[in-house]
Amino acid sequence: MSHNLNPPRRNFYGRSHGKTMRASQKEYLAEDLGPLTLKGVFTEENPERREISLDFAGGKPLWLEIGFGGGEHLVHMAARYPDVHIIGAEPFMNGVAMLLGKIRQAAVGNLSLYPRDVRELFEVLPPACLDKAFLNYPDPWPKARHHRRRFVTQDHLQPLARLMKPGAEFRVATDIPDYVRQTLEEVPPAGFELVKQAGLGAAWEDWFSTRYEQKALREGRDPHYLTFRKL
Ligand SMILES: C[S@@+](CC[C@H](N)C(=O)[O-])C[C@H]1O[C@@H](n2cnc3c(N)ncnc32)[C@H](O)[C@@H]1O
Repeated sequence: MSHNLNPPRRNFYGRSHGKTMRASQKEYLAEDLGPLTLKGVFTEENPERREISLDFAGGKPLWLEIGFGGGEHLVHMAARYPDVHIIGAEPFMNGVAMLLGKIRQAAVGNLSLYPRDVRELFEVLPPACLDKAFLNYPDPWPKARHHRRRFVTQDHLQPLARLMKPGAEFRVATDIPDYVRQTLEEVPPAGFELVKQAGLGAAWEDWFSTRYEQKALREGRDPHYLTFRKL
């Protein structure tokens, strides 16, 4: 099914399309996106929002990356952990096309995609199915009146918490000090405890620096790495 057939049902303030894609990227989307896209998540396929089966994961532990951007961290994790199945959600189609190119190069098979708003995926995954979740450099929404659009609000965090197994890890990376503040305030009440807070040079041992992080470092902003555990 084409992603264009699925009109957004929620307020989504990010971008879904950007600059013109290369012919190769259009080819990746045409050939690879369909087979890698999770079945039964688009509202047209599943208007009743029935829970989907996890058969696609083949019984492996299930991880989720929210807003994977160009996909470098997602592909790195899939290659590093072949015994895990990772879902990536990202509505920005230029990023999805970049990821598909990287998947071809790395020849990883333990990935599934949802090329839209992750909140639609939250509706149909079974409770307590996730062993790990990554939120790398979420959109900062710097203006105070836009803070409620940030991912680290209860509207996003509670549906995510419902999907995470007790003990599951939730990692947040951000370069915005006020985003750290809001993350520390909002994530625990959604059912998590803070395990670790680290800064520049102290990322997770298996971290892969993303495009957004590279840009932040070039522009003089420091990374913050927060680790939570689902209670
Ligand atoms: C600042 S970018 C960071 C991208 C990437 N994680 C990185 O570190 O380079 C934030 C990404 O989150 C995505 N995003 C925003 N809201 C989202 C949502 N509701 N569901 C899935 N992805 C979302 C955006 O499209 C964007 O690509």
